[in-house]
Amino acid sequence: MAVLTIRQVGDPVLREKCKRISKIDPSLQRLIDDMFETTHEAGGVGLAAPQVGVPLRLFVVQLPDDYEDPLAGEPIVLINPEIVKMSGEHTPEEGCLSYPGWVANVRRAYHVTIKGRDRHGREVRYRSEGFLAQAFQHELDHLNGVLFFDHLASLDELRRPAPRESEEVSVRA
Ligand code: NI
Repeated sequence: MAVLTIRQVGDPVLREKCKRISKIDPSLQRLIDDMFETTHEAGGVGLAAPQVGVPLRLFVVQLPDDYEDPLAGEPIVLINPEIVKMSGEHTPEEGCLSYPGWVANVRRAYHVTIKGRDRHGREVRYRSEGFLAQAFQHELDHLNGVLFFDHLASLDELRRPAPRESEEVSVRA
């Protein structure tokens, strides 16, 4: 496995509409492994393929082991993901590994059901809420060339993250 370079805002690949994946081959498996390693190394909760320069519809998410969610710690891979249901609303803090040092509160659906294929090509569906649902929406946005601050009425809403208690987590993905 290898830690990949995370593309930063300004890199055109982050604005691409990513292509659907038609073949799950060994090079894709390697990419998935590398994306998890890169996410962990960066201290994030997820990463989308365009963030490592690959404009394909794929992302990974892994919540911290001790987070209160039935899927905490589970390495989630979604290939060609689609949101099938959204409801509720909240405005949690959010940041992006492609735009480090800045956060903002972004309006997100609270409940999200998402489907796609896992790394073996099997159809999977996740029902999520709160933090995990936020991560799914953030990553799916990346596949459409959308960044978290595109949701803000004004870029003045961006701020430096406050120093936080170690047990607190917010989405960096
Ligand atoms: Ni991001």
